[in-house]
Amino acid sequence: MAIVIIRQDNKTQEWKNALLAVDSSIEVYAYEEDYDSNDIDMALIWKHPEGSLTQFPNLKCIASNGAGVDFIFEDKTAPIHLPITRIVDSYLAADMSEHVLALILAYLKNIEHYKVDQFKKIWKPIQYKRIADFNIGILGLGTLGQALANDLVKFGFKVQGWSNSRKKIDNVESFEGQAELSKFLSTTEVLVCLLPLTDETYGILNKKLFKQLPKGAYVINVARGGHLVDNDLIEMLDNEHLSGASLDVYHKEPLVKHHPFWEHSKVHMTPHYASVSDTKFVVPQILENYRRLQKNEPLLNLVSKSKGY
Ligand code: GLV
Repeated sequence: MAIVIIRQDNKTQEWKNALLAVDSSIEVYAYEEDYDSNDIDMALIWKHPEGSLTQFPNLKCIASNGAGVDFIFEDKTAPIHLPITRIVDSYLAADMSEHVLALILAYLKNIEHYKVDQFKKIWKPIQYKRIADFNIGILGLGTLGQALANDLVKFGFKVQGWSNSRKKIDNVESFEGQAELSKFLSTTEVLVCLLPLTDETYGILNKKLFKQLPKGAYVINVARGGHLVDNDLIEMLDNEHLSGASLDVYHKEPLVKHHPFWEHSKVHMTPHYASVSDTKFVVPQILENYRRLQKNEPLLNLVSKSKGY
């Protein structure tokens, strides 16, 4: 019985150490190490190389090391008949909320504009916007969307959200399903995408959707690059229907050097780092699931295969 960690960044050792620091009795291996692949019963993965999950004949669970699991379903060789778990963590949600709050406040107060002007030594006051006047619309009211909605309400924003099924969140107007999407969009001045990436949501941030937002709306995508049709965003920014966009996620990461987003004055970019699983907070839930797996008990934070999240 052992855990294998499969990821392509430089954080494997950090995760291995963090797991062992909490429970030194478990066996944990980095994918690249020598071990008997028959011993592996849990794969803790983040953007694993395609095909790598086929090598463990006794694998019993695939654990995503993040909130998202889209990368698992994208690997057509992945044994997705096995239970798949994901991270649900209040710190991950709080970090996301703080990131989006920072972006919205920077937008209302023209912080980006002033930075550009500063380098050109331009002294030019720009009318700022007020929180109380602003309607924020959140696409996706899961754990992350709900945490953001609650924080925005605390700050005094008017908040509405759209999801598959109606949600009950204090002071947040909830819109449900395709039938209510247009109504939701028509009053959304800042649109935040926090949807899971599934067949239904792929490309949802497209021209048709953007046209239903009021002129001058601002778009924030902190979910997945696959939600956005890049050229549609550029067109809507260039024709001034949208006033700007903040992106943390891209179709291909790192974003290729020749992509027009890099040099677009209305696109604000961050390198998919709005919110990342922190070993300190997340290791206990991974170990708890590992314990449950050994005891054949129901796992925490199971992904629904039919929903894809
Ligand atoms: C980050 O993108 C995550 O899914 O946790």
